[in-house]
Amino acid sequence: MPKRYLVTAGLPYSNGRLHVGHIGGAYLPADTYVRYLRARGDEALYICGSDDNGVAIEISAAQAKTTPQEIATRFHERQKLDFAGLRIDFDVYGGTHQPAFTELHERFSQEFFKRIFDKGYFTKRSTKQLYDPKANRFLPDRYVRGTCHHCNAPGATGDQCEACGQMIDPLLLIDPISEITHEPAEVRETTHWYLRLNDFEKPLRKWLESKRDEWRSSVINFALGQIKQGLPERAMTRDIEWGVPVPLDDPDAKDKVLFVWFDAPIGYVSFTAKLCEQRDGDWRGYEKWWSDPETAIVHFIGEDNTVFHALIWPAMLTADGRHQLPYNVVANNFINIRLSGDEAKVSKSKTPEDSPVWIEEYLKRFDPDALRYYLTAIAPENARTAFDPRDFVTRNNSELVAAFGNFVNRTLTFAARYFDGKVPDAAAQTDVDREHVKLADEALKKVGKNIEGHRYRLALEEMMAFARACNQYFGVREPWRTRKEDLNDCAAAIATCIHAVHYLAILAYPFMPGAARKLIAMLGLPEETIRWEPPAPLAAGHPLGKPAILFEKLLPDCMD
Ligand code: 2FM
Ligand code: ZN
Repeated sequence: MPKRYLVTAGLPYSNGRLHVGHIGGAYLPADTYVRYLRARGDEALYICGSDDNGVAIEISAAQAKTTPQEIATRFHERQKLDFAGLRIDFDVYGGTHQPAFTELHERFSQEFFKRIFDKGYFTKRSTKQLYDPKANRFLPDRYVRGTCHHCNAPGATGDQCEACGQMIDPLLLIDPISEITHEPAEVRETTHWYLRLNDFEKPLRKWLESKRDEWRSSVINFALGQIKQGLPERAMTRDIEWGVPVPLDDPDAKDKVLFVWFDAPIGYVSFTAKLCEQRDGDWRGYEKWWSDPETAIVHFIGEDNTVFHALIWPAMLTADGRHQLPYNVVANNFINIRLSGDEAKVSKSKTPEDSPVWIEEYLKRFDPDALRYYLTAIAPENARTAFDPRDFVTRNNSELVAAFGNFVNRTLTFAARYFDGKVPDAAAQTDVDREHVKLADEALKKVGKNIEGHRYRLALEEMMAFARACNQYFGVREPWRTRKEDLNDCAAAIATCIHAVHYLAILAYPFMPGAARKLIAMLGLPEETIRWEPPAPLAAGHPLGKPAILFEKLLPDCMD
C-alpha cells in the first residue's frame, strides 16, 4: 500500500474556456479520488495548472492581436475560477508561464533537458520544414493549408486531409499556403533534437506489463501496441518564440524552445516544488512526492494525452533518472454534447457562447454538485459518451431530487416536526433497522472499492442504490403511522433514518462536496467529521441543524 498519493490532472491549454467535456474527462474524477483518499485518512496532493507554452497559445495571441503572456494569464485566471466554482480543489494551480511559476518551471524543464542530453538520448538532426518568409517563421503543421497529396482535394492542413481522412506529410502538400499571412510557404532547413524513444522500449514494456491488472486495459493495450509497432524518435525542440529556451550552448539551438509536450508534464513536478516552497519555504520538499517510492503518482488525463503520459513522459523520467514512474495513468474518453438529437464536439466557433456546456455559463445558473453528479453518471470510462442537457435535467429531478433529496428531506423534517429537531431514542431498534445499517456499511465498502479501482460511475450507482433503499426503508417503517401508535418504534425508525443520512453525507462527499457539507450541517455536526468509516450513531437528544432543500428541481427546458 502506498503511503501517500500525488494526483495530477492534465494541464489545460490556457487559450480557451473550459467546458463540460474537460471537467468530466479528467479534473472531476481526480478531485473525487483525492477527496476519497483524504476522507480515508491518506495524505494526498492534487496538482494542476495551465499549459501556457507552445504554438497554440502563440497563434491564439496573434489572432487576438495580443501577446501570448496576456492570453495565457487571461485564460489561466478564467479556468481557475471555473474549477473553484465546481469545487475542484487543487493544492496548487500553477502555470508553465505564469509569473509566480515561470522561473522554477524553466529551471526544472531545462535541467531535465540537459540531463537527458548529457546522457546521450537525443539525436541532433537537420530536417526540412515549411517556412513563412513574410512572417519570418517556421510553420507548425496545423498552420499550413494546401492541396492533398493523396486525393488532390483542396484545403488539407499540414497534418490531415478532411476529404480523404489521411495523414499529410506537410512537405508533400501541393501549393502550401501559410495560415498566418496567407502567403505561399517555402521549404527551409532547420535543426532539432530528437528523443530516441526506441532506447526505452524494453524497460517501458516491462513496466507496463507489471501494471496489467491495475490499469484500465485501454491504456495498457494502447501503450503496448505502440511499443510493438516500434516507438519513433520525436523532436523535443521547436522553432517558435514562446516557451522554455533550449538550454544548449550550440549556435543551432539559438531561438528555439522546448516542445510544449516536453515541458508540460514537468509542470506537475515544478508546481509541486513551488507548492513546497510556498508551504514550507523549501522547494526541495518536492522530492518526498516525486522520488520516494512510497508515494503513488496518479495522472488523470483525456484519451488524446495517453501517448504522452503512458510512453513519452515515462521515457523522459527514465532517461532523467531522478524520479519515479506513474503508479497509474487514468485515461478517459471524450464527452461530446447532444443538442436536438445530434452529437458533436464542443467547439469554440460552433457552440453558442452562452451555452451552459461552458462552465462559466453553467455556474451562472446552476448548482455545481448537479453537474458533478451528472458528469460522473455519464463518465466516459470505457467509451465516448455525450452530455445531453435534457438528460441532465431528468436525472437531476428523478435521481438527486426525487430519490436522494427526498429521503433526506422526509427524515429531517419529520425529526424537526415531531422530535423537536433532536435525534430520537434508538433503543427500540428492530432487526429491520439493524439490517438497514448493515446495508449502509456495505454501501460504504462498495463505493470505496469502486473509487479505488477508478470505477466512478459504478461507485455513484452504488451510492444511489443505497439512497433508493433508504426511501424504501422509510416506506416499510411507516413512521407517520407509528408516531400515533407506537412512539418508541417511530423514534427508533427515525433515529435509523438519521443515521442513514449520516452515511449518505459521507458517501456523497467525494462526488458532491457541497451537498455533503449541507448534510453535515443539517445533522448539526462540524464539517471536519467526514471520515470514510461507519459513523457512530448520534446520541439521543443530539440537536440537529435546520432542514433545508438539498437539490433544486429543474424545469425541462432550463438548459435550452
Ligand atoms: O491536451 C491538453 O490539453 C494538454 N495541454 C495536456 C497537457 S498534460 C501535461 F502533460 F501537462
Ligand atoms: Zn485527401
